[in-house]
Amino acid sequence: MLQRSNIVSPEEELQDFYEELRAQHVTPAWISGGVGVEPKSKAVPYVWHWCDLRPQAMRAAQLVGTEQAERRVLRLHNPELEGSSASNTLVANIQIVMPGEIARAHRHSPSALRFIIEGSGGYTVVNGARIPMFPGDLVLTPNWTWHDHANDTDAPMIWLDGLDTPLVRMLEAGFYEQYGEEAQPVGEGSDPSLAKYGVGGLRPVWEPAPTARYSPLWHYPLSQARVALERLAAEGAGSPFDGVILEYTNPLTGGPTMPTIACYIQLLQPGEHTQAHRQVCCTNYHVIEGSGYSLVGGRQLDWEDKDVFTVPTWTFHEHVNTGSRPALLFSFTDAPVMKALDLYREEAQG
Ligand SMILES: [Fe+2]
Repeated sequence: MLQRSNIVSPEEELQDFYEELRAQHVTPAWISGGVGVEPKSKAVPYVWHWCDLRPQAMRAAQLVGTEQAERRVLRLHNPELEGSSASNTLVANIQIVMPGEIARAHRHSPSALRFIIEGSGGYTVVNGARIPMFPGDLVLTPNWTWHDHANDTDAPMIWLDGLDTPLVRMLEAGFYEQYGEEAQPVGEGSDPSLAKYGVGGLRPVWEPAPTARYSPLWHYPLSQARVALERLAAEGAGSPFDGVILEYTNPLTGGPTMPTIACYIQLLQPGEHTQAHRQVCCTNYHVIEGSGYSLVGGRQLDWEDKDVFTVPTWTFHEHVNTGSRPALLFSFTDAPVMKALDLYREEAQG
């Protein structure tokens, strides 16, 4: 009869064997841990408050120029992660560009999003297309697109940067290139990607459909998203786990904005308390407006306007709007990566 073998060796002999292997850069798998029964993130739930972040962003703007810093960025780092990132695969950073400043043109293989927190205009140029930036707008600078930022207003511009740099670094797939000039020449149109792709279900016929895997729409104004959210909220629609939640999509495919990052906006009604669920993806949230708290893996994260918080992968979370206004949350996740690799799951609590 075939059966499992039972070999009990003297501890000293085993340790000698392991020592010899170590010297040869070989590791016995049976003593080095395997796959857990479920994901357990090193990252912890955490919230960064705007009342702390904004003064430090302003201080950075006094102390460091955009000549000294390629990008004047404050990285929000998760207390339990070794790298300076808010979550396992996605950073959530605060960037500030002061009146009269530019941040010069470059491109990189990490994909990036900008979610505008403060400012009264200013713009990003993406592959020659000028994109105006207003509070609550989502702007994409996808994988390997040239981008530079400029503030031609009289007020500071501050936004949330979301990038997949930790993932790209882990995959050892990062490239970076400086543009030949400080800024790109700006092409025609005041907001060309929005003009071409900003109305759902319609696309220009005189040029071929873009074949890049990222969205050809690079500007998602809050004014459009708000109308959609409020229309659905008025009809009582939504998810028991997330309230009225909408995904920003690639208008050509209906898929995520970029191959590695999915973006969402959600509305929680005053008094709403969502049911808990968890997914195999890490999520960084930005509170566009509203006040309340989220229960994340047993921790209470209190939030109000412009705060940022992170929910690690496979961690139960529920949201509570304690204010008298509807709460609007922006979030971005690595779900497209998990789905592409057949690693995605979700589960309701209880
Ligand atoms: Fe960049």
